[in-house]
Amino acid sequence: MNVMIFTSSPNTDGLTAACGSAARTGAEEVGAHVVMVNLNKHHIGQCKACGNGWGPCRNEHECQVNDDFQGLHTSMDEMDAYILITPVYWGDMSESAKAFYDRLRRCEALKKGKNIFVGKPVIAIAAAGGSGNGLTTCLSTMERFLTHVKAEKFDLIGVTQKNKVYKLSTILNAAKEMVTVSQYKGE
Ligand SMILES: Cc1cc2nc3c(=O)[nH]c(=O)nc-3n(C[C@H](O)[C@H](O)[C@H](O)COP(=O)(O)O)c2cc1C
Repeated sequence: MNVMIFTSSPNTDGLTAACGSAARTGAEEVGAHVVMVNLNKHHIGQCKACGNGWGPCRNEHECQVNDDFQGLHTSMDEMDAYILITPVYWGDMSESAKAFYDRLRRCEALKKGKNIFVGKPVIAIAAAGGSGNGLTTCLSTMERFLTHVKAEKFDLIGVTQKNKVYKLSTILNAAKEMVTVSQYKGE
């Protein structure tokens, strides 16, 4: 089973990265093949809202802004599950996450039948600071994205600097359970 874990923070040793490591450990412990993607290390520009609001994303399900998006988008065909992790910025996802998921939604949401999310479980994780302000609005944005792309919502997890000790264990266990249950389902 292939699991893609997206992080989207410039900090390679911050809370988002710690959530990514916990998720990776959990998924690998039960035999998943994990692909880690830090969106901040990729060149992904914003949606240009081409045409009168829709470009080739609507019917051809491809984005014409040419950058690292295309390679990542294609590689998702091989995945069976995803874990999306973002730091909370202004009560929302980070800029790198927004840029990528905005374009991905446009390409995937209107596909008829199967897309790269249908029938695939996803865990969404928002990693906030000490205040935790905006944690739920960030998770709510992630939940809306998952609804639009018709993903199977396995869990939505909020982590803060204050609760990270037990929430990192929660993330590890959530990843483990998601892989275990999905492998069983595929048999
Ligand atoms: C531009 C910016 C905006 C932020 N906004 C919030 C916020 O709305 N709520 C919050 O709890 N923390 C906020 N934080 C703090 C980060 O969410 C927190 O430091 C988190 O751990 C960042 O993840 P990292 O450790 O991977 O960098 C913000 C940080 C930055 C840089």
